[in-house]
Amino acid sequence: MNYKQEAARYALSFIHSGMVLGLGSGSTAAYFVDMLGEQLAAGVLHDILGVPTSERTAERARALGIPLTTLDTHPHLDLVVDGADEVDVHLNLIKGLGRALLREKIVRVYADRLLVVVDESKLVPRLGRGPLPVELIPFGAEAHVRWLNTLGCRAELWREPDGSPVVTDNGNYMARCWFPDGIADPYALARTLTDRPGIAEHGLFLDMTSAVIVAGAEGIRVLEPGGNA
Ligand code: A5P
Repeated sequence: MNYKQEAARYALSFIHSGMVLGLGSGSTAAYFVDMLGEQLAAGVLHDILGVPTSERTAERARALGIPLTTLDTHPHLDLVVDGADEVDVHLNLIKGLGRALLREKIVRVYADRLLVVVDESKLVPRLGRGPLPVELIPFGAEAHVRWLNTLGCRAELWREPDGSPVVTDNGNYMARCWFPDGIADPYALARTLTDRPGIAEHGLFLDMTSAVIVAGAEGIRVLEPGGNA
């Protein structure tokens, strides 16, 4: 079992029958969805409903027979289990390199708790080691990217190998922003991005984490906000 699988497996200990769960996106969350499907099939868990954060996760969950619902029908979720691209010492996150950040953030705000599952490579002293993904409204997308480049980063429209823009499940485009020295003030940056028309959503998930399950060479650690990270 690799570290991502180990983190996903540990997350199962947080799940009880009867819960309404947000189902995250990315490879670590996919391991969790697979294991959840196995536990439901085995009858270990029952009466679980899932709200998927991407079409890909929805497809996977359906194939496993996990009953799905929507936020419209179930606007109160008990828990979201999701991966992350970066986790800092305050348990703030960068998410979205799986292209699902907008639905991930929407689902998170309707849930009591966000349980993040990662391998230890995702822990960073400061956010911005890698690119920050930003979801863009297609109207004026190149202009939005030029504006992003005024924020102290190198921003590019995210393209598929054939040169076409990446299109999200919401029909939007995405940019990736590289900050040469990391993101000095994620709160200020998040406010700037949130306030800008044309930016659909950004990958900074600040003060949203309830716990992080980290799997690594020394086993499993569960980090909580305010704890010793
Ligand atoms: C999906 O949009 C992202 O937020 C993922 O949570 C992130 O990319 C983590 O992916 P892995 O679990 O594949 O590393």
